[in-house]
Amino acid sequence: MEPYFSTRNGELYAEDLPLSRIAGEFGTPLFVYSRAALTDGFRSLDAAFGATPHLICYAVKANSNLAILNLFARLGAGFDIVSGGELTRVIVAGGDPGKVVFSGVGKSATEMRAALDAGVLCFNVESESELARLNTVAGEAGEQAPVSFRVNPDVDARTHPYISTGLKGSKFGIPFSQALALYRKAQAMPNLRITGIDCHIGSQITEVAPLLEALEKMLALADQLAGEEIHLAHIDVGGGLGIRYRNENPPPVDVYIGALTRAMRGRHEKLLIEPGRLLVGNAGVLLARVEYLKYSAAKNFAVVDAAMNDLIRPALYDAYLDIRRVGEEHGEARLYDVVGPVCESADFLGRDRHLALCEGDLLAVMSAGAYGSAMSSNYNSRGRAAEVLVDGNIPHLVAKRETIGELFARERIVGF
Ligand code: LLP
Repeated sequence: MEPYFSTRNGELYAEDLPLSRIAGEFGTPLFVYSRAALTDGFRSLDAAFGATPHLICYAVKANSNLAILNLFARLGAGFDIVSGGELTRVIVAGGDPGKVVFSGVGKSATEMRAALDAGVLCFNVESESELARLNTVAGEAGEQAPVSFRVNPDVDARTHPYISTGLKGSKFGIPFSQALALYRKAQAMPNLRITGIDCHIGSQITEVAPLLEALEKMLALADQLAGEEIHLAHIDVGGGLGIRYRNENPPPVDVYIGALTRAMRGRHEKLLIEPGRLLVGNAGVLLARVEYLKYSAAKNFAVVDAAMNDLIRPALYDAYLDIRRVGEEHGEARLYDVVGPVCESADFLGRDRHLALCEGDLLAVMSAGAYGSAMSSNYNSRGRAAEVLVDGNIPHLVAKRETIGELFARERIVGF
């Protein structure tokens, strides 16, 4: 996170701006992103590939703010999408559809048609039924759909069960043992063109070994396919590279990528990855203001103005995100549960945090750039938080705060 979010004279900054000043100008709850963190993160990942032909397809679901998509597009990124909505975002943000891979287990015919019309790099097909549908939709459009199979390599990503996707019992991917036969079928379908193979075994993976194991399984299958004159143009190992939230020790980017590029040595296929969290997780924070302090015999609570609707990761995965004071330390530290105003016991941002607090203080929930705003909701009729992208000492508003009017604009009262 340093140097992008650093403490200077007891004050927490985003790049060259005190977070307190940004909160004063735009209000709270507020997501704040660092342009330098996003840019440097992408560039160092890109550089780690060295001479290996590659494409980084940023997983849009991690943070789909248009400004962030545009920034990555300008840095040369491709995109991993999972819906027609994400495709539209990428196009509006200036992304190149020719660098888009379309993942997901439930693509509708309408979404397929839109992606064909846009000219995506490939469809990551997850089942035999999807393959048949894609062949039909492409035929109707008079096109050949580029196809990659998302295989399930049956590798344990050793991460939280909700974000582990590469084991046999998972809904994702084509069972590895069925892949060869399905490639043969696809080869015979008139409106499909086989381009690659991919997998995604899970998220917040903090070891190289499972990713490498998945890659090696895919390479062995690619060799088998080549023996049958089915030649793949790319191998996609998916996303999942983990970050440090607290005390995790994920391998540095060059170690992750070094292991993958070594495995690709001497091969002709392009190496694709679909990182989400790695590129945005530590590039953003969520600012919240303390509304009330509440003490009881059993617990102390800091009730803040951000809630599970803004950041659901603690409630959903019991995820730990560091919570820091934005201003100088004062008063006596106590153990607090930092909770939001939503009427759910699961509405907490952090539990048992040692903080010295007064009502009105500002807090920063760190590492909130990934799966924060993207997973936010309107539960309890709360408008979604504003988002600011800091560039040096300039704060750019990249998503305005949602108003209550916008929340119910779609709804109608029935005049029975
Ligand atoms: N590719 C595919 C096909 C995916 O399903 C995902 C994430 C990614 C790439 C990007 O994974 P990443 O590099 O960000 O780990 N909401 C959860 C994470 C869910 C991930 C779902 N798929 C969380 O907040 O931890």
